Amino acid sequence: MDYQNILVSKNGAVSIITINRPKQLNALNKQTISELNSALLAAENDSSVRVIILTGSGEKAFIAGADIKEFASFSKEQGKALSKEGQDNLFNLVENLTKPVIAAVNGFALGGGLELAMAAHIRIASDNARLGLPEVSLGVIPGYGGTQRLAQLAGKGKAMELITTASMIPSEEALKIGLVNHVVNQENLMSFSLKIAEKIIQNSPFAIQSALKAINSNYVDGVDGYKTEIDAFGNCFGTEEFVEGTTAFLEKRKANF
Ligand code: CAA
Repeated sequence: MDYQNILVSKNGAVSIITINRPKQLNALNKQTISELNSALLAAENDSSVRVIILTGSGEKAFIAGADIKEFASFSKEQGKALSKEGQDNLFNLVENLTKPVIAAVNGFALGGGLELAMAAHIRIASDNARLGLPEVSLGVIPGYGGTQRLAQLAGKGKAMELITTASMIPSEEALKIGLVNHVVNQENLMSFSLKIAEKIIQNSPFAIQSALKAINSNYVDGVDGYKTEIDAFGNCFGTEEFVEGTTAFLEKRKANF
């Protein structure tokens, strides 16, 4: 498929999706969100893909937010639609994919950029990255899930402070508050992210997909995460992957998934 604003490549079983609008610091406009939606669904449906890495092109930005030029003259209704369509088509989609998504945060991750990183399952940041939800400085609030996911990852107190002060924090501070999993030199960002992906690929895809679902279910209204875990645990039994994993252990060899 031909994309204008993203690049898609493959490294073994890893699909690497790069937001490619470096002159606009990879800001997320509607077209980019639609292309990301297509590329992510294609990766989800491609059985040769086991992990997805999301990153930004250039050395300056992962994503500097939603495209401010695009929404500056929007009405209340248009603002609501922007938020809902973005959440439905990209942010919730990423969170609920059955394949782990790693955000390789290679620079500014602001507004919608940090929101996309937070929707991913794992975040690796480069040492030059700066992260924040500066929307209130524009007279708006985070609209792509930021008010919810920042509190989930870093706690309510930090979310309250970071959002109301519109602060940008360096990656080391993001590491301290649990907002990112690792910080590495920018030149090592992709190789480190691929290393994490390789570790994931050693394991059972069905078990991984079940674990992602069980972990996420804690954050879904009205869903009992423990109950989801019981069902998901039970569903692993008897699968080919379960037979291979347990047999490999008993035969003292590495499982081949
Ligand atoms: N939308 C549209 N264009 C953007 C952009 C954005 N979010 N961020 C940067 N750009 C554009 C700039 O307009 C500029 O374009 P021109 O060269 O055509 O003027 C280009 O990218 C380079 O940016 P700067 O010249 O500003 O670069 P800098 O190094 O001086 O500053 C920055 C970098 C601190 C990241 C600054 O660009 C910035 O503050 N960007 C906006 C960050 C922001 O507020 N993000 C939140 C967006 S709102 C949102 O995301 C809502 C939501 O939750 C749904």
